[in-house]
Amino acid sequence: MSMRAISDTPPAATSPAATSPALAISGLQKSFAGVRAIRDLSFTVPKGCATALIGPNGAGKTTVFNLVSGVYGVDAGTIHVNGVDVTQMPSRRRIRTGVARSFQNIRLMPHLSVLENLLVGQHVRASSLAALLTPYRLIPNHRWKREARAALADSGLGRYADETVGALPYGVRKRIDLVRATLAGANVLMLDEPAAGLNPSETNALRDHLKALIASGLTLLVVEHDMHFVDSICPNVVVLNFGEKIAEGPLSLVRRDAKVREAYIGTDEEA
Ligand SMILES: Nc1ncnc2c1ncn2[C@@H]1O[C@H](COP(=O)(O)OP(=O)(O)O)[C@@H](O)[C@H]1O
Ligand SMILES: [Mg+2]
Repeated sequence: MSMRAISDTPPAATSPAATSPALAISGLQKSFAGVRAIRDLSFTVPKGCATALIGPNGAGKTTVFNLVSGVYGVDAGTIHVNGVDVTQMPSRRRIRTGVARSFQNIRLMPHLSVLENLLVGQHVRASSLAALLTPYRLIPNHRWKREARAALADSGLGRYADETVGALPYGVRKRIDLVRATLAGANVLMLDEPAAGLNPSETNALRDHLKALIASGLTLLVVEHDMHFVDSICPNVVVLNFGEKIAEGPLSLVRRDAKVREAYIGTDEEA
């Protein structure tokens, strides 16, 4: 028989979500057909911070995203988002805890307008069946439309509201996907190589957009090979090698670490 420990301390006045980190990964393990892709991995990302997950090809970065988003189940360990244990939660329910993944292959619908795409994202937050069945798209000046237009304007993307998504440049689509994710209620966003495929001016626009979102409280976990980009938005990095955390801290310190340098030797990448 198990007994719950009785604590002397009174329950905290604030909810666990208010005080816990945005993302807490503890003792995570994952193997694929005997290959240990993630080995006893633990790290936390504080609220409103951007952390980069770096490491050579095959280190396990994408697997971490797949475990946090629920694409794969864990072999062992726990994942908490905003204080909520999501380890056993079905993938589709995790967005309600605030975690989302963006950019993998942008999930915007190319034949719809930017505004319509944002409204689809906002439906994720709808709690009732009636809300889900209401054709918001057809209601002029609905609150969600006003919110969506305001979010676009805040991001400097207001002029694209009524344009068809498929006709827009890739860099703009990526930034609209960011707006969509935040309107859908995401406050912990995972980005897999956000700067890949962008030209320098698009990269700068994305970086400024991310900085503004972070300043407004968004938490980011970023996998990115462009170390200038990492350096400009992420105060902290977690370095993986063969599924194991080999270093953690500010990039300037981590890249001088002997284990990190060794991990990157013989690859074309740099830390
Ligand atoms: N679905 C899968 N099936 C089998 N092996 C996988 C799968 N996903 C990832 N792996 C393996 O897990 C390891 C880590 O891969 P991954 O997370 O994609 O690394 P990274 O994103 O750092 O390049 C690699 O050895 C890869 O082959
Ligand atoms: Mg990867």
